[in-house]
Amino acid sequence: MAYNLGKVLIGKDEIDQMVTRIARQISADYRGEELVVVGILKGSFIFMSDLIRRLEMPVIVDFMSVSSYFENTRSTGIVKIIKDLDVNIHDKNVLIVEDIVDSGLTLSHLKELLMTKDPKSLKICVAFDKPDRRKTQIEADYVGMVIPDEFIVGYGLDYAGKYRNLSDIRMMVSDGGNK
Ligand code: IMP
Ligand code: MG
Repeated sequence: MAYNLGKVLIGKDEIDQMVTRIARQISADYRGEELVVVGILKGSFIFMSDLIRRLEMPVIVDFMSVSSYFENTRSTGIVKIIKDLDVNIHDKNVLIVEDIVDSGLTLSHLKELLMTKDPKSLKICVAFDKPDRRKTQIEADYVGMVIPDEFIVGYGLDYAGKYRNLSDIRMMVSDGGNK
């Protein structure tokens, strides 16, 4: 099935307000503490860069790259680590920043992995959440927006590597769909 770019689901002003709200929550929760923010490449890079510039505590930035294997727009749940952490997170407050939680398989795998490195605390922040499609018991601590079961692109999120550069969130629609 082929997918085409569909209508705007979330506009850039709404995204901007969402990032400000989450950054305030995180800044309040970690007041007086240092935070290691771990962005999951590539999808989180735009959200991450907007978010960290609004955080008020000392922040250390690191990235991990994982690849989730897809069949069309569905994750298979197979996750491979392409790039591991550079910093040592032992005894540090760690915040994983991810673009979206869908089945939850990527984040539950990552959380398990990072817990073995013995951080002081470990929380998860996602820009978007599709709770209808969860296959594991994982909840993010900070959620930007809950969205319906649609495949979305823009603001860092891709379809087949494309559309990450869009400022709004748009839906992908399948051929023959009438959205
Ligand atoms: P998971 O199903 O929660 O493991 O999500 C795996 C990955 O699939 C996420 O990190 C995203 O990169 C990607 N993903 C899931 N849903 C979407 C979507 O609607 N648009 C773009 N990428 C998505
Ligand atoms: Mg991703």
